[in-house]
Amino acid sequence: MSTLTTSNGAPVDNNLNSITAGNQGPILIQDFHLIDKLSHFDRERIPERVVHAKGAGAHGYFEVTNADLSKYTKAKFLNKVGKRTPIFTRFSTVGGEKGSSDSERDPRGFAVKFYTEEGNWDMVGNNTPVFFIRDPSKFPDFIHTQKRHPQTNLKDANMFWDFLGLTPESTHQVTVLFSDRGTPRSYRHMDGFSSHTLKWVNAQGKAYWVKYHFKTETGIQNWTSDEAGKLSSSDPDSATRDLFETIAKGGEPAWKVYVQLMEYDEGYKYRFDIFDITKVWPHKDYPLIPIGRMVLNRNPENYFAEVEQAAFSPSHMVPGIEPSLDKMLQGRLFSYPDTHRHRLGVNYQQIPINCPFAVKGGVKNYQRDGFMAVNSNGGKGPNYHPNSFGGPDVDTSAQMHKIEVKGQAYRQPYTHPNDDFVQPGNLFRLMDEGAKSRLVANIVGHMKAVTIRDIQLRAIGNFYKADKDYGTRIAKGLGIDINDVVKFQTRSNL
Ligand code: HEM
Repeated sequence: MSTLTTSNGAPVDNNLNSITAGNQGPILIQDFHLIDKLSHFDRERIPERVVHAKGAGAHGYFEVTNADLSKYTKAKFLNKVGKRTPIFTRFSTVGGEKGSSDSERDPRGFAVKFYTEEGNWDMVGNNTPVFFIRDPSKFPDFIHTQKRHPQTNLKDANMFWDFLGLTPESTHQVTVLFSDRGTPRSYRHMDGFSSHTLKWVNAQGKAYWVKYHFKTETGIQNWTSDEAGKLSSSDPDSATRDLFETIAKGGEPAWKVYVQLMEYDEGYKYRFDIFDITKVWPHKDYPLIPIGRMVLNRNPENYFAEVEQAAFSPSHMVPGIEPSLDKMLQGRLFSYPDTHRHRLGVNYQQIPINCPFAVKGGVKNYQRDGFMAVNSNGGKGPNYHPNSFGGPDVDTSAQMHKIEVKGQAYRQPYTHPNDDFVQPGNLFRLMDEGAKSRLVANIVGHMKAVTIRDIQLRAIGNFYKADKDYGTRIAKGLGIDINDVVKFQTRSNL
């Protein structure tokens, strides 16, 4: 048995009694062990993630299984069939707090940290191929409507549907969310998507647009709304438990990884804006190309150290993988490291789970100091660049792809205002009758709690524009005449 120590490493003689003056007390301030223990405990909580607070994670690897990808990207971890890269994956729900239920209707986060030899690449996606909005300036407002009302501190159907009704581009993602896929059976039973369009660049500087798809080998399985609701009270940690226990018993949850690839110039000529995250690229135009396999095979040793302190960011990229013009992605490039500096501190990349350990020689730069500089802090080496003392220098082969920008700078939307409804309408029409009626019932069940009729009329109007039958069935479920929806739209000039 090892010796219990104080935080400064001295042996502890007694961990059950405080040092007191006499056996009744009071307690003496010289009891460093007690004071250290209590004050450390008082500071155990760090801010929870402002979104995606509830999650579970596991270690594993990514293996390239197909094709010579160096044709498309110079990313070294992708350049050889059979090459394995260590990864850490965190799954999550979005809107709930850290203690909320795993089975709630919500998108699921799907974040993968690839510890590559050229630095960490984070694929910070969801289990849905699209998103609710396409401009980052709407994100804080959107999230507020999914959280609690400022006065009642309750989830609030009025603000939920008010925002979504006023945000017609959300119709596609809302259709996915209220479909069967809104309540996955576990984290193993769902797919993952980059959702965004990203860029691949090869060694010759040629660029491609790319979207990632992770397809579960366990197969898609979902709870019905009823099952998910019951599970929320009987086992709110069902997905966390499923992931941990599967791996503890020797299971290896796995996903096949695919990309959709698009020629660079084609991207600017496609029939809709390929940077708009509310749209999917039709598979018939851009089929899935298999590239690899993601396997999870090791549970964290310590939840807080590895899962809670994991800090993913879409801006953690490596040579050969670059951002696209997607405005949402551009907003996220800033927002994640910013929130990590707040949640974990300015040196969050030094925390072992975030450390790019596969990089030969480790991180070398001229950043110094700050809270919790726990590595050697650059040692006695120079702390400025350029210098004459042999400090780290640049590698011009890592230069990013050059992009041409033109146009006027002002607050402006994408220029394809009329197609928010085509893809959600197609998705609805693709569903069999059972899936359609469950989708409608899930929306009706949620929208029933709305107390303001205009909010309902406007929100139904979006579904009606996607597909007349879709909107009409929701209206009927709520006891609303669809003609009232149409009249409301005309009156509001929608
Ligand atoms: C987590 C912001 C859109 C996927 C977060 C966090 C923030 C954030 C602040 C908390 C991070 C942390 O504390 O560790 C934003 C902003 C967005 C946006 C500003 C839009 C402008 C998206 C989209 C996706 C996504 C479109 C998916 C395609 C995730 C995931 C996490 C997350 C998976 C959890 C990562 C983890 O497991 O630690 N987001 N987000 N977010 N976001 Fe977003």
